[in-house]
Order: sequence, then structure tokens, then C-alpha cells
Amino acid sequence: MGSITAPEMRALPLACLTLLLLHRSPGAGAQVVQGFKLHQPQDKVSVTAGETLTLSCTTSGDGPIGPVKWLKGWGSENETIYDQTVTFPRVMRTEIRSGTDFTIHIRDVHPEDAGTYYCVKFQKSVHGVSVFQHGNGTEVSVYAKPSSPTVSGPESRAGPGQSVPFTCTSGGFFPREIAVKWLKDGAQISAQQPQVTPGQTKSSYDVSSTVSVTLQEGDVRSQLECEVHHRTLPAPLRGSFRLSRALRVPPSVQVVADPPSPVEVNKTVNFTCHVKGFYPGDVAVAWLENGMEMSAGSTPPPTETPRGLFELRSLVEVQATEEKNGSVFTCRVVHDAQDPVNGTSTLRIAASAKDGLSDRSQTDNDVNILSSPGLWLGILLEKGLLGGFLFFLFQRGRA
Ligand SMILES: *[C@@H]1O[C@H](CO)[C@@H](O)[C@H](O)[C@H]1NC(C)=O
Ligand SMILES: *[C@@H]1O[C@H](CO)[C@@H](O)[C@H](O)[C@H]1NC(C)=O
Ligand SMILES: *[C@@H]1O[C@H](CO)[C@@H](O)[C@H](O)[C@H]1NC(C)=O
Ligand SMILES: *[C@@H]1O[C@H](CO)[C@@H](O)[C@H](O)[C@H]1NC(C)=O
Ligand SMILES: *[C@@H]1O[C@H](CO)[C@@H](O)[C@H](O)[C@H]1NC(C)=O
Ligand SMILES: *[C@@H]1O[C@H](CO)[C@@H](O)[C@H](O)[C@H]1NC(C)=O
Repeated sequence: MGSITAPEMRALPLACLTLLLLHRSPGAGAQVVQGFKLHQPQDKVSVTAGETLTLSCTTSGDGPIGPVKWLKGWGSENETIYDQTVTFPRVMRTEIRSGTDFTIHIRDVHPEDAGTYYCVKFQKSVHGVSVFQHGNGTEVSVYAKPSSPTVSGPESRAGPGQSVPFTCTSGGFFPREIAVKWLKDGAQISAQQPQVTPGQTKSSYDVSSTVSVTLQEGDVRSQLECEVHHRTLPAPLRGSFRLSRALRVPPSVQVVADPPSPVEVNKTVNFTCHVKGFYPGDVAVAWLENGMEMSAGSTPPPTETPRGLFELRSLVEVQATEEKNGSVFTCRVVHDAQDPVNGTSTLRIAASAKDGLSDRSQTDNDVNILSSPGLWLGILLEKGLLGGFLFFLFQRGRA
């Protein structure tokens, strides 16, 4: 020990200082590096879109000179979310002035905000800024509510008995798990498994569910509902579709003549076309006489029945002239641009009185003849005359 010279004595603290400076990060000044700890306690966080996300980060101990930042992602994919020197519109420190609490709020969270966030302590050196310490990362899931479901039906209407597909779509939700229920007039009906596909943004999904419904005449008043259940929803979302939009009920067409054939010559006959039970209400009625369109006839607008179907009566008056004997009157109904539905009636002119009753009995409407009061009157009159004549003969014989 005694052999140590004066210059050596002076060199020792210098060497220690040099070692100390080498151990310390360059440019760290007088700070003590040991004991610095960064705590990023949240492992996983989920937040609903539109709400505020809080990311916690605190430090303890003394660290080197250099900023604390928040990064989203790691490696080449990283993106700076918070940095003391820059303002980010949706990001705010909870303790702006704190040197140890670097917790941030991100307000109005978007589905794209989903990812892993890192709280990072950087150190400044002559070589630039490098990562000094970082947290384990907080995995952020953004829960997003599905959009209000929409139900679409077939492109064209279908008739009763036909099976028709309906599709319910909703989108923009996260997480992926979703349930779609179908109801017809409030009662659940079974559907195929819904199809979930990636949505417009990276962390959202879209859903599509299809159901087949066999239409019925009574469905004019029915409603189909699609119900979307998702963990972000306090109550399911509903979309609806009135089945009347997909339904076509063709009319029944019947022509009734008043009075019924055969009719006396030159009488007026009213042909009424009963167009019943159709939906929707648009119909075009035309009258044809032996296949030729008539300009006559009146068709009032249809009326709605309590069941929701429509009906109407079209009337045409015809002068029962002799030359019209055997004429066929057709009521042609074109409903909802479909093939026409026809009703027909044939006009028959009764043979004139001078041709006698024998001719009448040849017509195909014997029942009508027998129900004619004129005929019965004739028979009674005939029997009365015969009785009177016999009575007269009897009285004469007695005398
Ligand atoms: C990071 O993870 C390791 C092991 O998974 C754990 O020991 C450590 O405490 C974590 N650090 C923080 C800051 O959460
Ligand atoms: C962040 O990205 C930049 C540029 O891509 C890269 O230079 C830097 O090393 C990355 N930082 C981290 C911590 O991954
Ligand atoms: C029916 O009317 C036509 C023309 O109006 C007339 O010529 C004819 O005599 C009429 N026939 C009878 C039976 O009244
Ligand atoms: C025929 O229709 C017209 C007009 O609606 C009416 O005045 C007439 O009484 C009807 N005739 C018969 C026989 O029903
Ligand atoms: C109805 O009448 C029209 C014209 O007379 C005809 O083209 C059509 O085929 C008829 N339809 C039926 C179902 O009889
Ligand atoms: C009308 O035609 C029917 C059969 O086609 C016939 O029996 C009847 O006598 C005819 N009436 C007249 C007035 O010619």
C-alpha cells in the first residue's frame, strides 16, 4: 500500500468515475438508473365502441432521461398513441403533470382501436432515442354493437303455398358471437345457422341469416321479425318485414247474370263480375263479348275486406236482343300484371211466346221454368177451366 505514488492516488477516483460513466447510459446526467420500474398492470381490457378506454401505466424509481410513450403494436407495425410533445385529439393523460403516472384516456373508442398497447420508457443517448423499458402490453378489445337489422324479402311477390326466403342483415359488431332469431307474428320459427363474415373494419363482423317461409293467404296481416342478440346489447335489436309486401293472392272470378238466362227478348240483363279475395289491390277488369272487347261496363275501385284482401264487382248491362242469343260474356281480370283470370256467362234468349211452352222446356234451365209463376198460373187456369167445363156438363146432365 505504501508503494502507491501520488499520481496513482489521483488516477484512482478518475478510473472509478470513468467506470461509473460507462455503466450509466450516456447523457443520463446525474440520475440513478437502478430501481427504475415500469408497471403496466392491465393484461386485457374490453371497451364498448363510443366509450372511453383507460390504459394504466406507472413508473417507480429513477430512470434515464427520455420520454414515456404509449405505442399500439410492436415492431414495424407500431403506432404512437401518446407522446408528451404531441397532442392527440382523443387521448388525454389522467395526471398531466405527474412524472410517475402515465395513465391515459382514449375517448370515443372506434372498433379500429382494438390491439395491444405498450407503455414504453425511452432513453436518450448520443445515438438517439431507444427503448429503455416497456410494459407487458394491454390487449384491448373493442366491443361494438351490431347495426339495426334489416330484413329483405324476395324480388317479386309469391302466392300462397310458395316457400320464400327472407334475409336479415346486421353488421359492425364485436365480438364475433351473435345470435339471430326469427319470429312470425311473435312466434319463433326455425332458420338456418346465421353466417358471420369479416366486417368493413378489421375488428368487426357482419351477420346474415336466412329463413324460408311458406306463404299463406292469411299472411296479408302477418309480420316477420328478425331479432339480433349480442353481448353489447341490453335488449335485442329487431328488424321487421310485413309479409303482405311479398304476397300475391290471385282473385276468384265469377260472372252472375241478373236475371238468369234464359231471358225474354229485349230485356236488360245485368252481368256482375265478382272479383274476390285478392292482394294487392291493383286489378284491371275488362269485359268481352264473344272474345271482343266491349267498351261498356263499370268497375268501381276495390274495397278491403276485414281479412285484408280486396274485392270488387264490375257490372255490364246488356240488351238481350235476339241476335245476342248464345253470346258469351267474359270478365277478364288482370291482377298484379299476371296472366288474366276469366269468368264467363252465356246469354240465352227464351223463345218468344208464340213458339209455345214446348220450346221453353228444351232449354237447359228446366228448374227455372218450373219455378216460373206464369207456368203455375197457366196450369191452374187450365185445371180450373177443365173443372168448370166438367161441372157444366154434370149440371146439364142432371137437368
Ligand atoms: C410481465 O409479465 C411477467 C410474466 O408474464 C410478470 O412477471 C411481470 O410482473 C409482468 N410485468 C408487468 C409490468 O405487468
Ligand atoms: C416502431 O416503428 C418504427 C418505424 O417502423 C421503428 O423504427 C421502431 O423501432 C419501432 N419501435 C418499436 C418499439 O417497435
Ligand atoms: C226488340 O227490339 C227491337 C229493336 O228495338 C224491335 O225491332 C223488336 O220488335 C223487339 N222485339 C220484341 C219481341 O219486343
Ligand atoms: C241492373 O243494374 C242497374 C244499374 O245498377 C239497375 O238500375 C237495375 O235495376 C239492374 N237490373 C237488374 C235486373 O238487376
Ligand atoms: C282469359 O281470356 C283471355 C282473353 O280472352 C285469354 O287470352 C286467356 O287465356 C284466358 N285465360 C284463362 C285462364 O282462361
Ligand atoms: C236461343 O238459342 C237456344 C239454343 O241455342 C234456342 O233454344 C232458343 O230458341 C233461341 N232463342 C231464340 C229467341 O231464338
